[in-house]
Amino acid sequence: MILSDLAAQVAGQFKTAYGRPPRWIVAAPGRVNVIGEHTDYNDGFVLPMAIERYAVMAADTGTTPGTVSVYDTQFKETAKIDVSRPVTKGQPKWSNYLRGVMAGFQQRGQAIPALDVAMLSTVPLGGGLSSSAALEVCTATLLEAATGRTIDPVEKALIAQKAEHEFAGVPCGIMDQFISALGREGHLLLLDCRTRKTELVPMSDPSVELLIVNTNVKHELGSGEYAKRRAECEAAARILGVPSLRDATADALEAGRGKMTGVVYRRARHVIGEIERTVHAAEGVRASNWTAVGQLMYASHASLRDDYEVSCQELDTVVEIAETIGIAGGVYGCRMTGGGFGGCAVALIKAGSVQAITQKIAADYRAKAGREATIFSSRPAAGATIIQG
Ligand code: GLA
Repeated sequence: MILSDLAAQVAGQFKTAYGRPPRWIVAAPGRVNVIGEHTDYNDGFVLPMAIERYAVMAADTGTTPGTVSVYDTQFKETAKIDVSRPVTKGQPKWSNYLRGVMAGFQQRGQAIPALDVAMLSTVPLGGGLSSSAALEVCTATLLEAATGRTIDPVEKALIAQKAEHEFAGVPCGIMDQFISALGREGHLLLLDCRTRKTELVPMSDPSVELLIVNTNVKHELGSGEYAKRRAECEAAARILGVPSLRDATADALEAGRGKMTGVVYRRARHVIGEIERTVHAAEGVRASNWTAVGQLMYASHASLRDDYEVSCQELDTVVEIAETIGIAGGVYGCRMTGGGFGGCAVALIKAGSVQAITQKIAADYRAKAGREATIFSSRPAAGATIIQG
């Protein structure tokens, strides 16, 4: 659904819930990462794009002093957040993404006004498309609209990341919140996670599209595997005597191989290779060299599957199906995207073949994995926006 329709929908839901029209409407997108996986917390490069799936909030000044009331149109439940004091964790669970951002604003010395809010999201939950970052950045954007004070998008992304760390318990990097805050229509975002320097890479060649294949295996990063990977990378950097794996080379890793466990070695090999692949992929996109970008995507997947061990059978199945279709059938490359352990794969395909490829992947996935995939394509979308107010 296009953003203006979503805005109208959430405005209608606000009116049903609160009996008056909303004053502000804001949105923030989810993302798909084209390449550069598990590199952000290693100071490396990532190449995500915002997708046409959004968290959207409609709001007005609240009727209960000191309280932000948030009606979630999907779960049909309301969170009551006490903003008269430092905001704490609470129920329902989803409200913690919003609570964390509110706490971040308070820590900057900004009081949170009483608000009545209705929200909806078209970013699939647990699909590895950053539904949580979309919620966080959307909340920050709502607070900007409601207080009339805009903040630098980089700072906004950092507040959202802190919310994820402290209120959702996931020690994530900066990719998801950055792309949700800073995405630009028609562009990928090459982000140097060390310097936080960003470069918009145009992705406007009409001959290609990105297809997102949701395995419908729920991914759960809170379970500890994500934090474990992060710790293994830090261990590798320590052993190699560098501040982060961004500073390590493949040669240095080989030289230090004897000093680390096989697992730590393989984690580091993934990260070092993936950082290089990401830089090359950005060059490939700039040059519309889709064959090269596709090969890098396959290599990224193999490395995430074998060295980093964050794929799962269903994701591997999607990538195998894509490889079987091949360039002759219109697929340049395919890989798992996001944190892993389920969620989505992303495929770079010829625009003219979208329908045939979608049907083929759906049928083969059903036959091989015994479940349904949800498949859609998206153009690179804009980052967070104030739609009204
Ligand atoms: C999750 C995290 C990101 C990033 C990816 C893996 O999406 O939130 O910061 O680490 O996993 O690339």
